Amino acid sequence: MISVTRPLLPSQKKYNDLLTDIWDSQWVTNSGPKHQELEAKLSTRAGTNCALYANATLGLMGALAALELPKGSEVITTPFTFAATAHAISWAGLTPVFVDIDPTTLCLCPQAVATAITPKTSAILGVHVYGIACAVEALKEIADQHNLKIIYDAAHAFDSTLNGQPLVKWGDISICSYHATKLFNTIEGGGVYTENKALMEKIKQQRAFGKIAEDTYIAPGLNAKLSELHAAMGLAVLPLVEKERARRLDILEQYKKALNPLGVHFYEPQKNVSHSGQYCTAHIEHQKCGATRDNIHANLAKNDIYARKYFWPLCTDYPHYKNARKTDLTVSKQAVNNTLCLPFYGALSDADVQKVITVIQNCLKS
Ligand SMILES: Cc1ncc(COP(=O)(O)O)c(C=O)c1O
Repeated sequence: MISVTRPLLPSQKKYNDLLTDIWDSQWVTNSGPKHQELEAKLSTRAGTNCALYANATLGLMGALAALELPKGSEVITTPFTFAATAHAISWAGLTPVFVDIDPTTLCLCPQAVATAITPKTSAILGVHVYGIACAVEALKEIADQHNLKIIYDAAHAFDSTLNGQPLVKWGDISICSYHATKLFNTIEGGGVYTENKALMEKIKQQRAFGKIAEDTYIAPGLNAKLSELHAAMGLAVLPLVEKERARRLDILEQYKKALNPLGVHFYEPQKNVSHSGQYCTAHIEHQKCGATRDNIHANLAKNDIYARKYFWPLCTDYPHYKNARKTDLTVSKQAVNNTLCLPFYGALSDADVQKVITVIQNCLKS
């Protein structure tokens, strides 16, 4: 079986050494030494402030709560995302409004955002889909004009840079996922990034019960702390990231070389955005390559190869969001039927990559 991804794990010996430190200290959670070390390293790496969270979903919730947006106000977002993006808006007591995406980037379309703004709008929540950057400058201009906050779901954009600068510096807050399916992982985990130090204080309060001092609670905060065991995993995985990303980008080239001539296009970050190496997503359009995404997905499965329809379905097709306010979603509806994430992890052998390619080639030629 070839799976769509595989967690990047350190050697057991490396992790055991870090576990020994934890056993010696008996400090297993609540901002222990490993947590502090990882948070500092990730802040330095991104050149801004990072707060570790138990996962990106809680990070999104903590970020939205920290912004103190008016209850029930509207947050404009994309339907072409993972459930967590929209659910976090709902959990924060806010109202998601779904607008269409740009066909090239699959990220929020700024014009669609602008036309959806009403007096009830308080924020824009964009997603850097597959590490492709949202139109950050256009969205900032719109947000500034209407006095809106911007939050970026950067779950796919760990280490991404735009014009050489960390992408997570854009917007009021950005949230990365460190889930096991992401290239850099703490098994479960996430990071909330902001340039604004006062806001970072609130984000950290939200992470731990709204507590600001022993016996003093100022907000209905979460318990979204990352344990020492997870932080230790992050410390052990961090030095492996560059090599893993390089191998993945080599695999991407193999896919492109074999499948581009057959009409399969791959979504990649813009030229001025570095590749996060998290996903290898093919655009499979029946008219262009003679097979549907679903057909290729099914044929890969028959050959014990698990590719992922990611994202599928659109959030606006979940029962909870069926009645949400939305604009025309033509591009999102096309994207959700044409995108397929192919197996993509460093440990994938060239022979396995070739096996994936051969199954797809056979579908396209038949
Ligand atoms: C776009 C997006 N946002 C949020 C999340 C949630 O991340 P986590 O699993 O760390 O909560 C994911 C997870 O894959 C995601 O793809």
